[in-house]
Amino acid sequence: SLKRQVVETLSPFRLNQAQLQLVKARMREGLEAGLKMKGSSTVKMLPSFVYHTPDGTEHGKYLALDLGGTNFRALLVKFKKGLQQNARLYHKIYTIPLETMQGTGEELFDHIAQCVSDFLDYMGMKNAHLPAGFTFSFPCEQTAIDTGTLVTWTKGFKATDCEGHDVVSMLREAIKRRNEYNLDIVAVVNDTVGTMMSCAYEDPRCEVGLIAGTGTNVCYMEELKNIQKTKENTGTMKRDDGIPEGEQQDDGTEREKKEGDAEISKMCINTEWGGLGDDGSLDDIATPYDKEVDQNSINPGKQRFEKLTSGMYLGEIVRQVVLDLTRGGLLFRGHVTEPLKTPGIFQTKFLSQIESDRLALLQVRSILQQLGLDSTCHDSIIVKEVCKAVSHRAAQLCGAGMAAVVDKIRENRGLDHLKITVGVDGALYKLHPHFSQVLQKTARGLAPQCDVTFMPSEEGSGKGAALITAVAKQNQP
Ligand code: BG6
Ligand code: GLC
Repeated sequence: SLKRQVVETLSPFRLNQAQLQLVKARMREGLEAGLKMKGSSTVKMLPSFVYHTPDGTEHGKYLALDLGGTNFRALLVKFKKGLQQNARLYHKIYTIPLETMQGTGEELFDHIAQCVSDFLDYMGMKNAHLPAGFTFSFPCEQTAIDTGTLVTWTKGFKATDCEGHDVVSMLREAIKRRNEYNLDIVAVVNDTVGTMMSCAYEDPRCEVGLIAGTGTNVCYMEELKNIQKTKENTGTMKRDDGIPEGEQQDDGTEREKKEGDAEISKMCINTEWGGLGDDGSLDDIATPYDKEVDQNSINPGKQRFEKLTSGMYLGEIVRQVVLDLTRGGLLFRGHVTEPLKTPGIFQTKFLSQIESDRLALLQVRSILQQLGLDSTCHDSIIVKEVCKAVSHRAAQLCGAGMAAVVDKIRENRGLDHLKITVGVDGALYKLHPHFSQVLQKTARGLAPQCDVTFMPSEEGSGKGAALITAVAKQNQP
């Protein structure tokens, strides 16, 4: 029957417990391999040079720039000592045109510098020379808090002459080219790290940051002793003030141990878990539709886990399935119309609307109508089923990955039981009606010794970037 054929088409999207356990195990292997050596794992495990979550002593006025989600954001954040509730925030959102995302690096950074100019005008702060934190939501190889070499673009970005370059220098040069205002860029921060810090400001148990949005990624606090590659890179670990342990200072004396030095035992690691599977290790769960989406993307073969789980790709997977069902005569009376052939028509927003339980089928049909798809009642039921299967699998896979991360933290600490908070951001987590529930259920089920609380970040990663900037600024010589 018709119904049977639809169920069969969707069956590869239904993952059983054994498959999810396998994904958890593979994620764990990826985490371990990435910690060992540079370039040795599809999960990059990039050191962030952030050693502490906030302690409430952060204070002052900071600019935060946020590039890599749906929009570019500029924020001004003000902290008062010990007044967690009173962080004040002003912000403005700017869109980045597709031509700019995929043009030259110079054009992209000039565009950002121009948005910042507009924001400073808007705030009346053109002459303030503020310390700034730069949330840059792409994989960066860092050697200090204020340098980051872009490893590779991900998501929808593809600007030329950026990979292999320090993004902080590129931003500084763009600002210099304008010759109009000054900024003191003190930190470059991944959005996961910014999100973790934003949430940790309210909840000290928060030691993990998760993004489920356009892309997906996780960061967490790892033991310094487990981060072998940083030891290889720098010889000795640098302390918070940047002076390596035991090294001689300018006056020839050995630097004394300061109070608090002993606390530096962890560093936040940006896992870049979206790269899991780039060696083919997820091929057994990927469907032909996933392979199609990967092949049609701007980075085929890359970010395979991300392509199964994040907002930028879920709609495309849905479109591939819907196309297939239509070609097979199971949908839209077998008519493959123009909208169905249009990449990107099913945005995350659409998935979220269509799966809402409050929506009557008539409303689902009217959404499809807005996309130019004439549907029968039966069509709309099937499309909804497709959306559900795709987003449910995405949430389960994220949950399996999260189970690997929290279990690793628990084992690091030699605990039978760990209570931990995960700070979360991203449109998929925040707007989708079921994603967060399924994610939590899966993570808890696969990591029964961890009590995981998910905490949505309220102000995005910008507040976290500002907190990191505050600490970096205080520690500057
Ligand atoms: C925002 C963060 O709130 O969430 C960004 O500040 C992040 O840094 C974004 O990239 C992720 O959400 P989305 O859904 O826009 O990709
Ligand atoms: C992509 C980026 C990563 C970012 C994530 C979420 O996976 O590579 O750095 O954190 O998207 O925005």
